[in-house]
Amino acid sequence: MIIEQVQVISNQQIADATYEMVLKAEMATKMKPGQFVNLKVEGFLLRRPISICQYDQFNHTFTIIYKVVGDGTQKLTTLKVGDFLDCMGPLGSHFPIEAQTTALLVGGGVGVPPLYETAKQLLAVGTQVQVVLGFADAQAAFYIDEFEQLGATVYVATDNGTLGTHGRVTNVIAEQQLTAEYVYACGPEAMLRVLETRFEKGYLSFEARMACGIGACMACVCKDREDTDLYYRICKEGPVFPVGKVGF
Ligand SMILES: Cc1cc2nc3c(=O)[nH]c(=O)nc-3n(C[C@H](O)[C@H](O)[C@H](O)COP(=O)(O)OP(=O)(O)OC[C@H]3O[C@@H](n4cnc5c(N)ncnc54)[C@H](O)[C@@H]3O)c2cc1C
Ligand code: FES
Repeated sequence: MIIEQVQVISNQQIADATYEMVLKAEMATKMKPGQFVNLKVEGFLLRRPISICQYDQFNHTFTIIYKVVGDGTQKLTTLKVGDFLDCMGPLGSHFPIEAQTTALLVGGGVGVPPLYETAKQLLAVGTQVQVVLGFADAQAAFYIDEFEQLGATVYVATDNGTLGTHGRVTNVIAEQQLTAEYVYACGPEAMLRVLETRFEKGYLSFEARMACGIGACMACVCKDREDTDLYYRICKEGPVFPVGKVGF
């Protein structure tokens, strides 16, 4: 884990209340798909955890996609090209990349970004990748073309039916009868819970309210599925866990 002043290369709106920021950082050379960074936003005590969407280890850059939900993420929108940001990372566990025959990647809302680098790397090792992306509505949707350009088959669901299937990502999976050897998912617990009933193998990334982000404060603990005396810190042992490991 590194603390570094990373420099803003671009910071632009890509969907409703959703921004893509590219940052120049040495720590890009250490990143793995599914990990996150913890950003110090000026004027706020607690850092904000944001997933790594993609990275370029040759040019030392990485991309985040963030949704404006409160004062901290609103403040991020004011950063200009050339500004610096205090960044801690890369943090947490990652999605393992192994050559499999088929993988289904499922993301809901701000759970979509960490799946992008994951899709890229799975495709690079010869895995056939299907992606299901869920958004509130068409205006909130992002990175559909980007996933397609990687070579993935992409399905979309929106809560109000303005794009793709009307409903949740799990509706798309049922409707299209999507199957795969492994599932890779990031999103709300309700979504992860349904996926666990359908897929025996794969990896789930959990969203949790965090304080320190480095395993010191125990604000983000969850229980083992089998041993209820065993706890994991989502920021440290997670956010990515194998299917069936966490009780929730
Ligand atoms: C591992 C991880 C990865 C994430 N990746 C992304 C991402 O790629 N894109 C994105 O838009 N959002 C992501 N989030 C959610 C993001 O951290 C929150 O939306 C953000 O911290 C909200 O900050 P705020 O100041 O705007 O909101 P406020 O609600 O004002 O924040 C108040 C406090 O609550 C914490 N907080 C609020 N919501 C969350 C949340 N959902 N998860 C964790 N802490 C929260 C904040 O960090 C802050 O300490 C991720 C969260 C986690 C845990
Ligand atoms: S946020 Fe402090 S231990 Fe996870």
